[in-house]
Amino acid sequence: MQSIMKEVLDIYGSPLYIYDGDKLRQTIKYISTSVMYGKTQFRFASVTNGNLSLLKIFKDCGWGLHANTPGDAYLGLQAGFSPEKIVYSGSNLNCDEMLEVLEWGVRTFNLDSVSQLEVFCRVYGLWNEPQRTQRTQREEVKLGLRLNFPELTGDSRIGVHPLEFGKACARALDVGLKISGLHFYRGSGTNATSAFTQAIDTVIDIARVLPDFSYLDFGGGFGYPYRHGGAAFDWELFGAELTRYLENLDISIELVIEPGRAAIAGCATLLAKVVSVKWQSDKQIIGVDTTVANLSVPSVHGGYREIVCLSSTSSNLFQTDVCGNTTYSRDYLGKNCLLPALQINDIIAILDVGAYGYAMSSHFLHRPRPAEVLLENGNHRLIRKREDYSVLLGNQII
Ligand SMILES: Cc1ncc(COP(=O)(O)O)c(C=O)c1O
Repeated sequence: MQSIMKEVLDIYGSPLYIYDGDKLRQTIKYISTSVMYGKTQFRFASVTNGNLSLLKIFKDCGWGLHANTPGDAYLGLQAGFSPEKIVYSGSNLNCDEMLEVLEWGVRTFNLDSVSQLEVFCRVYGLWNEPQRTQRTQREEVKLGLRLNFPELTGDSRIGVHPLEFGKACARALDVGLKISGLHFYRGSGTNATSAFTQAIDTVIDIARVLPDFSYLDFGGGFGYPYRHGGAAFDWELFGAELTRYLENLDISIELVIEPGRAAIAGCATLLAKVVSVKWQSDKQIIGVDTTVANLSVPSVHGGYREIVCLSSTSSNLFQTDVCGNTTYSRDYLGKNCLLPALQINDIIAILDVGAYGYAMSSHFLHRPRPAEVLLENGNHRLIRKREDYSVLLGNQII
């Protein structure tokens, strides 16, 4: 793998996001087969990565898409997902946006508040008026509520408390709809499997308060072991527990799961080249040709990403700070990494950057974004071009 990476870096230039399509397919298969419950649908949370070529891999593997925003739904449609395989579970859309998503054909909406339900019902009522539509039948729309229950969801801004379920059901009924789903989001990125398994019975008990309960969306937030060898989310245990609960219910419900990072984090690497080396006592400070604007997670948002050197095999390692190519005080790709003594043009690889990597990159610091390349079956292809400085002028009016 390392030699292909070096070859690909020579061809496409540095810095470069490289995705391992074979590993992505294996991960999707592993997660899919971990949950044996028969009525399970997987929806990839594309907030983590919106590259169309990667979304198409999820589609090929039979997954649908979870849209956090109308933009996620738009990209999903461009990648070829049929709208009924897109589930919207987001927050704070205005009427125009809600209508747009509905008109695109998305039919499952997990809403964040009674106020968002009010927006949805208003929009749906107008959209579905017989005099405005050619449709002879009302189209089936699935409505769910996102859960706010501090004992499980902690101090979260998201969701509707069960005490408001009655009001919500009554409002939906005004426009002829039932609230049939409950959406639970445990929170981002925990590797503690028990945080999910211990919540299952309470979530189902709460869902059963909904008179028309027929689907459970268990959300995302499943962890990824960024610290190699450290704690990892146990998909098989989680899948077995969830299946056991659902198979023992006296009603048959649909299950939706929306993994983001767990599915795609480990399938990508950001490669960069060393452009500067200095030493402060026995600490090595290297400058590389990428920046936190290309990968904001470790420094700006917190979180660890392993960094290795691809061009040196020396086992003599030194404490090293890996700094970006700007003078921004937080421009660190990694702090206190253990790396060999490096030279200019050495190649470093920042691992596990498939989720919230390119998707969170920006033009902050006015450096264009890297290219993205997909490796599959021993072949490589460009799946997003490197930007040039013209992007900095985009939409500016002089
Ligand atoms: C509703 C919902 N589902 C799934 C996800 C994906 O989360 P993760 O990448 O932690 O799995 C998010 C992330 O924002 C979300 O808001």
